[in-house]
Amino acid sequence: MSESIDRQLAIDVKGVTRVFPGRVTALAGLDLNVRYGEMVAITGPSGCGKSTLLNILAAIDSPTSGSVIVAGHDLAHIHDLSGYRRHEVGLVFQLHNLLPQLSTLSNVELPMFGCGWSAHQRRTRALELLAEVDLSGCEQRLPTELSGGERQRVAIARALANEPKILLADEPTGSLDSASTARFLDLLKRLESGGMTIVMVTHAPDVAANAQRVIEMRDGTVVNESVAK
Ligand SMILES: Nc1ncnc2c1ncn2[C@@H]1O[C@H](COP(=O)(O)OP(=O)(O)OP(=O)(O)O)[C@@H](O)[C@H]1O
Ligand SMILES: [Mg+2]
Repeated sequence: MSESIDRQLAIDVKGVTRVFPGRVTALAGLDLNVRYGEMVAITGPSGCGKSTLLNILAAIDSPTSGSVIVAGHDLAHIHDLSGYRRHEVGLVFQLHNLLPQLSTLSNVELPMFGCGWSAHQRRTRALELLAEVDLSGCEQRLPTELSGGERQRVAIARALANEPKILLADEPTGSLDSASTARFLDLLKRLESGGMTIVMVTHAPDVAANAQRVIEMRDGTVVNESVAK
């Protein structure tokens, strides 16, 4: 039977475990609630399960046990997984995951295919998003022709392509310099004031300080929570 769904919550995680082959326990009974419109930062030492948690929220991995409800979808019983990944959540991967054979512009356009957009609409939106992350002029370059920080900004633009309800970002500022980080944080604030729910993994305390709540993980669970602003 499906868990009861709290419509106030964008994310409702209860008792989630994830045990990888070899008995690596990445998540050990984790609970997490995020309200719609909230910006939450997740911190914690390397290996404590942050990326595993984001992958589960994005439905690209499944928990070993526990319940995960995102934007009203019980992920254990979801029928339209590709629709969920396309419309409900945008994920900025820790390692960007851009397609190396596609141009910067095509990488950003990719998630918009099959969503009812015309080629012109896809192009216009991708150009706008690239301008938003200060990459105008780089549209035709391949990912290998970009710096690490530029690739990360392409990944951010791509995650925003379909105006997701929830943005999941894994170390989005990890390879950005301080000027790009500041611009990215401005973009997050604009998205937050537009009502987007944002969950961001970060090691940087000054980046985490921009969130409404900072959640600290250790050994696969939440060990501390503080209100940042
Ligand atoms: N596919 C996998 N198979 C086996 N073990 C895995 C797999 N993915 C992650 N792990 C292990 O699960 C634990 C949590 O990994 P995870 O990537 O979630 O950590 P993290 O908090 O994101 O770390 P970092 O800050 O270094 O990115 C680690 O011990 C890791 O080695
Ligand atoms: Mg990680």
